[in-house]
Amino acid sequence: MTSLPSTEGTATTATPAATAASADPSTGNPQAPQPPILEVRNLTKSYPARGGGGSAGSGGAGVAKEEDLTVVRDISFAVPRGSTCAILGPSGSGKTTLLGLCAGLDLPTAGEVVLDGVSLSGLGEDGRAKLRNDIVGFVFQNFQLLPTLTALENVMVPMELRGAVERDTRALAAELLERVNLGGRLNHYPAQLSGGEQQRVALARAFINRPRILFADEPTGNLDNDTGHLVIERLFALNAEAGTTLVLVTHDRELAARTQRIYRLKAGAMVE
Ligand SMILES: Nc1ncnc2c1ncn2[C@@H]1O[C@H](COP(=O)(O)OP(=O)(O)OP(=O)(O)O)[C@@H](O)[C@H]1O
Ligand SMILES: [Mg+2]
Repeated sequence: MTSLPSTEGTATTATPAATAASADPSTGNPQAPQPPILEVRNLTKSYPARGGGGSAGSGGAGVAKEEDLTVVRDISFAVPRGSTCAILGPSGSGKTTLLGLCAGLDLPTAGEVVLDGVSLSGLGEDGRAKLRNDIVGFVFQNFQLLPTLTALENVMVPMELRGAVERDTRALAAELLERVNLGGRLNHYPAQLSGGEQQRVALARAFINRPRILFADEPTGNLDNDTGHLVIERLFALNAEAGTTLVLVTHDRELAARTQRIYRLKAGAMVE
């Protein structure tokens, strides 16, 4: 298997994994533990019982009323830097909602998410978008590819948002697509791709910025065994080589078994 491409040229900067193992520069104490990459504190998300209220931010920073529909209920957990975990639970148990809250795509009704030491509740929409683009990769359950862009262009988007040089971005995007076996589909639009192919484009897009933390919602859900296997290998290669933290929602037992920690959700609450 080939190694993941570096977007940093010569690797003068330490990977998060290396950083986690080294001394804390603020104290000089080699034993000082790094704070978790993700901390979730008493997180709750409710929707108004009747109608509407589905947009991001609705029901943000308020108090859940009794008649509201609570889909994430007082959840707390912490994810160490460079670790891997899986979130399991039946359909409708709140997995996608929780992932969206953790990545700052949606706002909680109560509680807090601290991502890489930054409290999301202290950031506005722009601040959250910048933090996401800097450190987060996200693979959506429904892919969310831009329909007017080709596979190659979709993968390039996160790096272009960072102002990277287009020529380098194009080459890296093509390489990533080749590595998920889509080298022959670079110029296809999403509507011209199968579901599993769209999913692999979404994965390549999530990798391109070398995220510190990758949230993936059912990353192998639409893939045949061989392709699912390939995607799993890619995910764990990213974890091993770049110290990327993986937070995966999955029903795939092979995938869940390879993570260091499994969280279970039931009706919006963490059961363990
Ligand atoms: N915008 C919304 N407004 C009202 N209710 C919502 C909204 N979004 C999600 N829900 C409800 O929240 C619950 C949890 O949804 P979520 O998508 O997080 O489930 P899930 O665990 O990801 O399920 P699946 O495995 O089917 O993807 C569901 O019952 C859903 O109906
Ligand atoms: Mg879901």
